[in-house]
Amino acid sequence: MPKLVIPTSRYKQSFLEAVREVQASGSGLGDTLKWDAAQMEADFDRALTELRRYEPGNELPDGFVNSEPLWLVEGEAYLGRASLRHTLNASLREFGGHIGYEIRPSARRQGHGRTILRLTLERARELGLERVLVTCDTDNLGSRGVIEGNGGVLEGEFVLDYHPKPLRRYWITL
Ligand SMILES: CC(C)(COP(=O)(O)OP(=O)(O)OC[C@H]1O[C@@H](n2cnc3c(N)ncnc32)[C@H](O)[C@@H]1OP(=O)(O)O)[C@@H](O)C(=O)NCCC(=O)NCCS
Repeated sequence: MPKLVIPTSRYKQSFLEAVREVQASGSGLGDTLKWDAAQMEADFDRALTELRRYEPGNELPDGFVNSEPLWLVEGEAYLGRASLRHTLNASLREFGGHIGYEIRPSARRQGHGRTILRLTLERARELGLERVLVTCDTDNLGSRGVIEGNGGVLEGEFVLDYHPKPLRRYWITL
């Protein structure tokens, strides 16, 4: 059964393989596409600290909110990751929402996207959130399937002058 864990060196090799897989495919979250996998591999403890830098207890750069990274794993395999923002600011309310997620390309279309959002929503509920915002590009059919499969209620479709595609905003009541 897949489960969510806090990023840890236990999944180092599988995680790095997945980062390279996402980059080779060109389809993934924006920061995964930009990560330097070789640098992460060379100092993985530092990479883990970087990944967890917005968790409560750390000093946040201006305009940032607390968030936590969560990895979906099964056995020794890393399958994907989510980022759970504990609150919204104006830009997250408009564009990013509370939760972002990515499944590694070789593990897609097997239900893991739906699972990672379901488990991240459980974590959000544990934190006391009552309603979460999840957004995706209108043409991202996989992400739409993930959100709608988790009870997302469409707020609407929006065009933003800084984003090339129409965006859908969904709310999920916890
Ligand atoms: C979006 C993403 C997380 C989906 O992950 P996944 O593991 O393939 O999703 P699932 O297997 O749980 O599929 C969920 C639903 O979407 C459908 N779906 C998944 N990928 C699809 C695609 N490319 N086209 C059409 N439908 C798709 C599935 O059939 C399933 O439908 P169902 O619930 O009716 O059976 C994955 O494609 C991904 O990581 N994409 C890149 C990053 C990204 O877009 N993240 C979301 C940012 S908003």
